[in-house]
Amino acid sequence: MIRLKTSRDIEEMVKPNRIVAECLALAGDMAKPGITTAEINDAVEKYIEKHNADAAFKGIQGSTGTEPFPTACCMSIDEQVVHGFPSATPLQEGQILSVDIGVKLNGWYGDAARTFIIGTDVDDDVSELVKSTKEALEQAIEHAKPGSHLSDIGHAVQSYVEKRGFSVVRDLVGHGIGKELHEEPQVPNYGKAGRGVKLREGMVIAIEPMINLGTYKVDILDDGWTVVTRDGKPSAHFEHTVAITSNGPRILTLDP
Ligand code: CO
Repeated sequence: MIRLKTSRDIEEMVKPNRIVAECLALAGDMAKPGITTAEINDAVEKYIEKHNADAAFKGIQGSTGTEPFPTACCMSIDEQVVHGFPSATPLQEGQILSVDIGVKLNGWYGDAARTFIIGTDVDDDVSELVKSTKEALEQAIEHAKPGSHLSDIGHAVQSYVEKRGFSVVRDLVGHGIGKELHEEPQVPNYGKAGRGVKLREGMVIAIEPMINLGTYKVDILDDGWTVVTRDGKPSAHFEHTVAITSNGPRILTLDP
């Protein structure tokens, strides 16, 4: 069941989502060669705490036999698609770092992600991948309005990135969001246009294309969390939490 939000509910969701956007801006400012993802995560956790909010990903249960997710941020470098752990290894020139952050405040969730280029000396195809993933998200968001079909979003992502020679991860999808981090509907990043539920005012969804330079296929590492590309080529990830309003899409996690 898709839980519709009132305009008052959406106002409640503004603050946690703004904190997410501020955390991503902080992470982006820090993401330079020589710093570790553990240091960035620590700064983000302090920021969330200072705003009396909770880190939504910390402690999430994974599949049986794996530890709960340990930190506020997912930190995924290069061929890591999503759900990587922060580490004590310094970032290097030419890497890309995907940071995904969820925040809970007063019972409401916010969720967003961005991929940052580390330093300035990155391969052209990798910087094109990052740029195209960001643009694919922007294209998809234009369909987040009443009267569109759910699959128009995935179709927009897929057609945009495949035209540029990149591939769409199928195994992971976006999601509804509100009083739960993951609500219905699932929001795939691929598919034919004009299918699925009709989008309505009051739906709030996290749209999150995960786009690969090579094959769309992914695997999960033995830690039970880290998703990597099967061919070891880089992957990018951008995500916004978007409210569907009578005036069209309202991005709740806009870069501050
Ligand atoms: Co999400």
